[in-house]
Amino acid sequence: MAAIVVSLASSFVVSSSSPSLLFARFRSAAAVASASSFRLSFAVSPLLSSRRGKLMAHTLAQATLGLTQPAHVDVPKIAFAANDIDLVEWSGDILAVGVTEKDMAKDENSKFQNSILERLDAKLSGLLAEASTEEDFTGKSGQSVVLRLPGIGSKRVSLIGLGQSASTPTAFQGLGEAVAAAAKAAQASNVGIVLASSEGLSAESKLITASAIASGTVLGIHDDTRYKSESKKIALKSVDILGLGSGPELDKKLKYAEDVSSGIIFGRELVNSPANVLTPAVLANEASKIASTYSDVISATILDAEQCKELKMGSYLGVAAASANPPHFIHLCYKPVGGPAKVKLALVGKGLTFDSGGYNIKTGPGCLIELMKFDMGGSAAVLGAAKAIGQIKPPGVEVHFIVAACENMISGTGMRPGDIVTASNGKTIEVNNTDAEGRLTLADALVYACNQGVEKIVDLATLTGACIVALGPSIAGIFTPSDDLAKEVFAASELSGEKLWRMPLEESYWESMKSGVADMVNTGGRQGGAITAALFLKQFVDEKVQWMHIDLAGPVWNDKKKAATGFGISTLVEWVLRNSS
Ligand code: BES
Ligand code: MN
Ligand code: ZN
Repeated sequence: MAAIVVSLASSFVVSSSSPSLLFARFRSAAAVASASSFRLSFAVSPLLSSRRGKLMAHTLAQATLGLTQPAHVDVPKIAFAANDIDLVEWSGDILAVGVTEKDMAKDENSKFQNSILERLDAKLSGLLAEASTEEDFTGKSGQSVVLRLPGIGSKRVSLIGLGQSASTPTAFQGLGEAVAAAAKAAQASNVGIVLASSEGLSAESKLITASAIASGTVLGIHDDTRYKSESKKIALKSVDILGLGSGPELDKKLKYAEDVSSGIIFGRELVNSPANVLTPAVLANEASKIASTYSDVISATILDAEQCKELKMGSYLGVAAASANPPHFIHLCYKPVGGPAKVKLALVGKGLTFDSGGYNIKTGPGCLIELMKFDMGGSAAVLGAAKAIGQIKPPGVEVHFIVAACENMISGTGMRPGDIVTASNGKTIEVNNTDAEGRLTLADALVYACNQGVEKIVDLATLTGACIVALGPSIAGIFTPSDDLAKEVFAASELSGEKLWRMPLEESYWESMKSGVADMVNTGGRQGGAITAALFLKQFVDEKVQWMHIDLAGPVWNDKKKAATGFGISTLVEWVLRNSS
């Protein structure tokens, strides 16, 4: 039997101490540490560093605007076990059966033709067939029924529709989510999950299916209640996945699903957090905490504005200039234990903790200014992936996680439309629109990434409204000159179930990005806006480096759930593992 314990929430808090206590702690730390430390790489507590300590005390204290702090939600644990217990013997609160429309076929005597449903129904005196007909349950995707029927070990039986056929990870994640919904409604503490037809599945498919079910269940159970004054307790304690085998390989796969899910939950929490709480300093602090939690493999370097100035990051600092919350440049480095890495990768994320637009302020209905806390969704994907990688510890691959975090605000010290900024590779940019700020921050982040000597870079950003117009709310646009990298990332996304669509990097459109006075402007016309944005980023990437840009402006947020999706994390982790050896 394979038993895995999954931690559900990774709720972060700025500090449980009062602001004055916080100051006291920083002051004493600053007194001990040397004031000349420039780059602070720390494997222990980030609070122990001098210059940064003072800075963080100041900036973290500002995060109390509105007096809001995320509640410390207790970490519920769900134990997943894959085993071969007979489903009619399994005892617990809900036995959930995933069924396709085909599985629901009945013979002339109204008996199930599917052997599993038939056996179950025999124990239930034919009530399952009867009730499912009465409830009009046909196995369509999205349909589900919960029945309280006597005769088997389980208190309830739930049928969950998988559609015409179920073969993709997405379908099985959906099954997990439906199980989570049923478990919540019934306040179930243990559920069993089985597929009506799993005989045809290869060993490999069984692994993928079990882990998709597990991650769907965990992610479906999780509700981000940190900003509510009351929250419901999660009752679910254990999940048995039946009929998909058992053993160490399945164990490993479930552990992997657990690690990725905790990264996704962390990423969602970062994005859900409002900009008055999640400032650039707090984001940097969260990154530092990842490094101290996985200090055997991850180290952190956090640069303040002065240090970024020394690195000539004029493009990034121009964006940050208006804000009272200073910028923090985040660099986590994952190095595998036991042996050098064969491949070096970088993941770069847009980290605008808020995007007001700047002087080109976001106005009018549909500009979504009230949602612009999600403009750090790219960085959440990168840090969520870092957390998962810190747990999985893949061999043979080095990964740099890079975020130029800041806020795009308005003030007398801010960038004006028409200003010219100079990026760290020496290129000059005429800022004809202060609302095209993401690419300005990414420019310096990409130059920095290339300087780490990486072979491949993937950047993720909520970069353009134009990408949402092109692909809608649930598909991310990918842009890359490299067919090989496109193949790698597509293969990863097939397993993660995240939807990506390759867009053209049409070089002739660069025409609209020419400036009369500088090397380039930061926005072209309205046409092809996602493409010109990607072409802009390309100016800051070494030609030797394989690079991909992912515009996740659409899928970062779920409008219906009014919550972050954690998009990108599972694909990134899958991609890193493909580069591991
Ligand atoms: N963060 C926005 C992009 C965005 C808009 C994401 C709406 C999600 C929803 C980005 O910084 C931005 O403002 N882009 C501009 C670019 C334009 C000025 C060329 C946009 O898309 O309107
Ligand atoms: Mn903007
Ligand atoms: Zn933005």
